[in-house]
Amino acid sequence: MDLRTDIGKILLKNPVMVASGTFGYGVEFEGFFDLGLLGGISVKGLHLNKRQGNAPQRIMETPCGMLNAIGLQGIGIEAFSREKMPVLRKYDVPIIVNFWGTSTEEYEKAVEKLNDVEGIAGLEVNVSCPNIKEGGMTFGTDPKVLSQLIRSIRKKTALPLMVKLSPNVTSVGEMGHIVESEGVDSISLINTFAAMMIDVETRKPVLSNGVGGLSGPGIRPIAVKMVWEVAQRVKIPVIGMGGIMNARDALEFMIAGASAVQIGTANFVNPRISLEVIEGIKDYCLNHEIEDVKSLIGSLKMP
Ligand SMILES: Cc1cc2nc3c(=O)[nH]c(=O)nc-3n(C[C@H](O)[C@H](O)[C@H](O)COP(=O)(O)O)c2cc1C
Repeated sequence: MDLRTDIGKILLKNPVMVASGTFGYGVEFEGFFDLGLLGGISVKGLHLNKRQGNAPQRIMETPCGMLNAIGLQGIGIEAFSREKMPVLRKYDVPIIVNFWGTSTEEYEKAVEKLNDVEGIAGLEVNVSCPNIKEGGMTFGTDPKVLSQLIRSIRKKTALPLMVKLSPNVTSVGEMGHIVESEGVDSISLINTFAAMMIDVETRKPVLSNGVGGLSGPGIRPIAVKMVWEVAQRVKIPVIGMGGIMNARDALEFMIAGASAVQIGTANFVNPRISLEVIEGIKDYCLNHEIEDVKSLIGSLKMP
């Protein structure tokens, strides 16, 4: 049975990756299993510089997932390159660096620095962050801003480029089409949904930031639909995520059109979940006499 798949120029030994912000810089999970068994690792979103993130409370459980406003805390590109990359390079697993900025210039500078870091398989652009120059509106929610940003980044790097789409838009398919036209190699989706919880006793938001991002199994059917929509619109590979808790969930995304999946919130419940998902996909293929996992991609039978 062939579990290999590819996301543009990056070959994965299986379709299961871990999602940015839910698996640290990878090295924190070394004690749980051999990281080389994963299809890929997307590391916590990096900024040019070290970032503090928001004050607590910045995470809260919801009935079917979690709400977070970590505020993109991170060690910065230089520390990542110096402290984490030497460890990650020991493993036979593609390292995808998720990164962000508050202006186009910051994104460009980040890319220039990342170009020089040895061992990076590809970049994942997080566009779900506030554009300070445009009054705090997120880059990923305005078609013009998004296409200009991706054009600038594309010019700066020859590394495989993945753009991670925000679900907080009217037409995610349109956003997918826009980034494909700017020459990116693949598209990942979805990032978290803008959301809020209120403590009725204090009448204050539960999170110190006021609003946060919703993730976990509660968002999965919307994520599957969005992945399906984008996969219809683009020719480049799509990487699906949003609430994957087991192999069947992952298979839904592949059948909807994803070439690979990322597991996020589930890592907080079970740090070895991705291995269980890989095994579950293998079992499904065996039971359904599927020799090549790629044959599942976009195999949805619409009524
Ligand atoms: C605590 C936390 C931190 C996250 N940090 C990032 C990040 O730094 N960059 C990014 O692109 N997405 C980040 N995400 C979004 C996830 O990678 C993923 O897109 C989202 O949570 C949906 O998948 P899930 O439901 O499986 O968690 C974060 C999510 C969580 C829960």
